[in-house]
Amino acid sequence: GAAVSADISKLEPGQLIRVEWRGKPVWIVKRPQAMLDELATHEDKLRDPASEVEQQPAYAQNRHRSKKPEIFVAVGICTHLGCSPTYIANDFAAQVEGVTSGFFCPCHGSKFDMAGRVFQSVPAPKNLQIPPYMFIDDNTIVIG
Ligand code: FES
Repeated sequence: GAAVSADISKLEPGQLIRVEWRGKPVWIVKRPQAMLDELATHEDKLRDPASEVEQQPAYAQNRHRSKKPEIFVAVGICTHLGCSPTYIANDFAAQVEGVTSGFFCPCHGSKFDMAGRVFQSVPAPKNLQIPPYMFIDDNTIVIG
């Protein structure tokens, strides 16, 4: 298969790294507790807060959309027309509905929170896709 492994041993809180999987960018972000806490603050503004549209493995159907709450893994492609959203680590207030961190798509302004959940007010129809992945150990993720 086309599985790819990523070493996350050097990932700092708030940092995003990219790996390529089947020609797609996959993001891995280490979310500090403040980012996780923020996920509960704006669910009324999200299109699919509980991720009921199937776009992820079952283990990601939770508020943080991940296996381990602190490690977020997602396909970094906007679900509108496929641009690559920009990661905004701690300054999202100007762009998204009072949320300080998330992802902003420059093509048509779609906005996603730190679990890749899409806001209602934007053109993207779905949350960011979560790829299949597993932890080989605490520092190694295999995607695919
Ligand atoms: Fe991202 Fe259109 S491609 S908003």
